[in-house]
Amino acid sequence: MRRPKSPRSPVHETVVEIEIVPPERTTAFRLEHEREALSTQWNFPVVWHEQRHEFAATEGGCIVGVLGLRIAASLAHLDSLIVAPEFRRRGIGRRLLARAETFANYYNCHKMTLEAAATSAARDFFEACAYKTEAILPQHTWKLDVAVMRKFLL
Ligand SMILES: CC(C)(COP(=O)(O)OP(=O)(O)OC[C@H]1O[C@@H](n2cnc3c(N)ncnc32)[C@H](O)[C@@H]1OP(=O)(O)O)[C@@H](O)C(=O)NCCC(=O)NCCS
Repeated sequence: MRRPKSPRSPVHETVVEIEIVPPERTTAFRLEHEREALSTQWNFPVVWHEQRHEFAATEGGCIVGVLGLRIAASLAHLDSLIVAPEFRRRGIGRRLLARAETFANYYNCHKMTLEAAATSAARDFFEACAYKTEAILPQHTWKLDVAVMRKFLL
């Protein structure tokens, strides 16, 4: 037997439209609601500060490699790591990564995560740097299998 529909509050009677908006349009709403929403989502009080940091490897003042790091909720996520082709296999990627890990550790991150194509030199690189594969996401980025990798820092 069908349950009777619950009576709708007046707010449901308003016409809600869905729009694509520039990011700054949502800032005030996020400031007002994000803390409550995250606490509800995770079931404990949450203070969420997302930080982004850039690291650069330089030679004679010129950048030869970069690493982008995102930190939030005691997790560090490696967004990008690029070493210029002519500087590869000299240990620069490993040094950038080690520096980012030390930095993340300082900010109390217990874990660094990243995504790499499942069949790629990048995955070999991260394995050489003690990263383990936690999962394979089938047909993910560009419809390729992607490895979710991690290293515990604490
Ligand atoms: C992946 C990348 C950052 C590695 O940087 P790098 O400075 O060349 O790496 P390192 O010299 O520090 O290598 C450390 C170890 O990783 C492994 N490794 C690095 N490149 C590798 C490759 N192409 N194939 C297999 N293993 C590799 C090796 O074990 C290496 O040690 P070794 O040279 O003593 O054998 C670089 O190749 C790159 O920029 N690639 C294109 C962008 C990319 O794929 N980024 C990863 C995004 S998730």
